[in-house]
Amino acid sequence: MNLLYEGKSKQVYESGSPDTYIIKFKNTATALNGLKKEEFEGKGELNCAISNLIYDYLEKNGVKTHLVRVIDPTTIEVKRVEIVPVEVIVRNIAAGSFSKKYGVEEGTPLRNTTTEFSLKSDELGDPMINDSQITALGLATQDELDYMRSVALRVNELLCELFAKCGIKLVDYKLEFGRSGDGIILCDEISPDSCRLWDAETNSKLDKDRFRRDMGDMLGAYREVLRRLQSVLA
Ligand code: TYD
Repeated sequence: MNLLYEGKSKQVYESGSPDTYIIKFKNTATALNGLKKEEFEGKGELNCAISNLIYDYLEKNGVKTHLVRVIDPTTIEVKRVEIVPVEVIVRNIAAGSFSKKYGVEEGTPLRNTTTEFSLKSDELGDPMINDSQITALGLATQDELDYMRSVALRVNELLCELFAKCGIKLVDYKLEFGRSGDGIILCDEISPDSCRLWDAETNSKLDKDRFRRDMGDMLGAYREVLRRLQSVLA
C-alpha cells in the first residue's frame, strides 16, 4: 500500500479506489503539540474500536461520517475528502485550555454547550480562530461553518445520551470535517484521544489526560470506555 501521509496517531494509505483511503491507527500517544510522545501497545486497536462503535452509532442516527468499512482491528476504509482545515471543539463542562484561559475551575458545568473553531496547524499550536477570520482567510465559507456547528451540536446530543448510558460525562471533545462528493461529513476519529471523558460517579479521568498529566494506566481507562460502549451498544 502506498503511504500518502503519516500523522501523530494515524497513517493514511491509498486504497486503490479513487473514492476512498485506508487509515491505520498507530500506537503512538502525543501531547503538548507532539513534544511528549510514547508508544502504547494496543492503543491503536482500542481507539479504532471505540471510534468505529461511535461512528456506527452516529450513522444510525443520521450523521454522515467518513467510515466505509472496518478492514482489521487497526485499519478502516474511509471516504476520500478534502479536510476542512479547522477543528470544532465542543464543551459541556469547563476543562483544559478553557479553564486556564477563562479562569474557570475544571469540572464547572457550562450553562450551554459551547462550540469554537481552532486552526489545524501543529506549527502554530492549533490557535483558536473565529468565523470572520476563517472566512477572511478562505479556509471555509460561512455556510460551511454554520453547517459544521449544527452537526457538532447534533453529535453532542447523541454522544451525551450515549455516554450517559455508559456512566460517563462527556466533558469536551474535538471534531474534524471533510468535503466529500455528498457534502461535508464527519472525519478523523472520536476516541479518548480526542475527548475528555469522566466517570459519572467518581469523576475519574478515562481519556488522554491520563497521559498528558502523567496519571498512569491510560490503556486501562481506554479499555473501560470500550467495555462500557460495547455493553450499551450491544
Ligand atoms: P482544549 O481544552 O482546547 O485543549 P487542551 O487539550 O490543550 O487542554 O481541548 C478540548 C478538547 O478537544 C479535549 O478533549 C482535547 C480535544 N482536542 C484534540 O483532540 N485535539 C486538538 O488539537 C485540540 C485543540 C483539542
